[in-house]
Amino acid sequence: MPSVFRKIVCIGAGYVGGPTMAVIADRCPDIEVTVLDMNLDRIAAWNSDDLPVYEPGLAEIVLRTRGRNLRFLGQGEGASVVAAADAVFISVNTPTKTEGEGAGKASDLRHVEACARYIAEHAVGHTFVIEKSTMPVRAADLIKSILSTARTGATFEVLSNPEFLAEGTAIRDLELPDRVLIGGERPEAVGLLAEVYARWVPAERILSTGLWSAELSKLVANAFLAQRVSSINAVSAVCEATGADVEEVAAVVGSDSRIGPKFLRASVGFGGSCFQKDLLSLIYICEHYGLKPAADYWQQVLTLNQWQKQRFADRIAAALAPAGGSLRGRRIAILGFAFKKDTNDIREAPAIDVCRSLLAQGATLAIHDYKVACSTIETALGSECIDIFQTPECTLDGADAVAVLTEWPGYAQLDWANLARRLRPLAPIFDGRNILDDVAVRSAGLILHAIGKGPGL
Ligand code: NAD
Ligand code: UGA
Repeated sequence: MPSVFRKIVCIGAGYVGGPTMAVIADRCPDIEVTVLDMNLDRIAAWNSDDLPVYEPGLAEIVLRTRGRNLRFLGQGEGASVVAAADAVFISVNTPTKTEGEGAGKASDLRHVEACARYIAEHAVGHTFVIEKSTMPVRAADLIKSILSTARTGATFEVLSNPEFLAEGTAIRDLELPDRVLIGGERPEAVGLLAEVYARWVPAERILSTGLWSAELSKLVANAFLAQRVSSINAVSAVCEATGADVEEVAAVVGSDSRIGPKFLRASVGFGGSCFQKDLLSLIYICEHYGLKPAADYWQQVLTLNQWQKQRFADRIAAALAPAGGSLRGRRIAILGFAFKKDTNDIREAPAIDVCRSLLAQGATLAIHDYKVACSTIETALGSECIDIFQTPECTLDGADAVAVLTEWPGYAQLDWANLARRLRPLAPIFDGRNILDDVAVRSAGLILHAIGKGPGL
């Protein structure tokens, strides 16, 4: 067994594997870090100036570590690297299953299983296998059973080290984490991985638990965050109906130190690759153990989110076609497609559902995002009836309505006094993130519909 980790491999060069390994390489110059992926285009991008993941601060770190103690390799070149590794992180995607038992809810662990088989085939000596991907409780059992088939004489130890970074703030979250969680069966093994993080994370922020608690804690942390967003979004509907202001209510409720102010921003709905899939995974686990009321409780967080997105699209449609008619011939400017600011990621972005609903009703969409590529938007929506623009200003030309779907700061700074004339007369503005200055918008003679703000007194 190694006494320290000197060579680390990570399988999966995605939004988690890439940034996480870049920060480990940056903070631990004595550790050789290799990131493998079967997607060779992704590896080529990590080795180029145009990284596949946009995260503030990431490019600078990759630039100073790549070629020093960080490298990105195609899976085909990984066999000898895995053989020499002290620890192999598994950081591949764990999406919701689309077929077989648990389809639509359970996590699809086929990529994790493939990694375990690959490690079993190539590892030599005692190798730590570290779950970085988000996994259902007891996934470590599955990994261990696959590793036990190794014919190389290698021995293994599985640790759970789930990642809590949020996209858009990944580097800050990795450099200054609230906590690092390591689940394992032996304190010595947990200690070895803890030593890596201890180079920059204070000891009291490195938490250790049993394997199953670590796996479950990750799912539950996301479930709690998503639940807060759905809670405030439920309140936003009450505010719109009653004339209360959701921002005022959130400020009051969040000032209770037992509740706290974070994750109380009402919005068009939460998106991102993980909240929905991790809630579904938790729901499936509850159902699997016969805990239906617990499953129903978490299901409601998702149901509310779906309702919030549909409510937003319906509000636009109702304003443009009050009698419930079609949106044919109506042009709607969509500002923002990413699921949140500071990322190019559109996985489960609320913009997808809102846009699809408007397109289905016959609207034409003019779309802008600061970081999402045109091809990504076209893949999500198809290219019929959508025009993609390079600036928010051009996106507004001739629009019958505007919908802000991502909280990019650039949208908050738009000069509505000058832009109003680019819109069709009386075009309403729907702010799905509550970032627009209502005084500026209204002084430009425009009607603003914000989330959770009713018609007032
Ligand atoms: P991703 O889809 O961006 O990246 C996964 C990568 O794994 C892909 O590049 C894919 O090609 C590669 N891959 C899949 N199977 C492989 C195999 N057998 N061999 C080699 N490469 C393989 O996913 P992500 O967003 O980085 O998420 C990874 C995991 O981390 C998920 O379990 C997710 O729930 C979890 N997580 C994600 C975030 C986030 O912000 N995205 C945060 C915390 C945790
Ligand atoms: C989330 C968690 O915050 C991370 O801790 C976790 O590691 C990650 O999921 C994961 O497992 O993938 P992320 O999805 O990147 O991170 O982004 P968040 O900041 O959590 O936002 C998620 C969604 O909720 C976004 O669409 C955001 O706009 C929305 N949101 C967030 C709100 O609508 N209101 C809020 O107050 C906060």
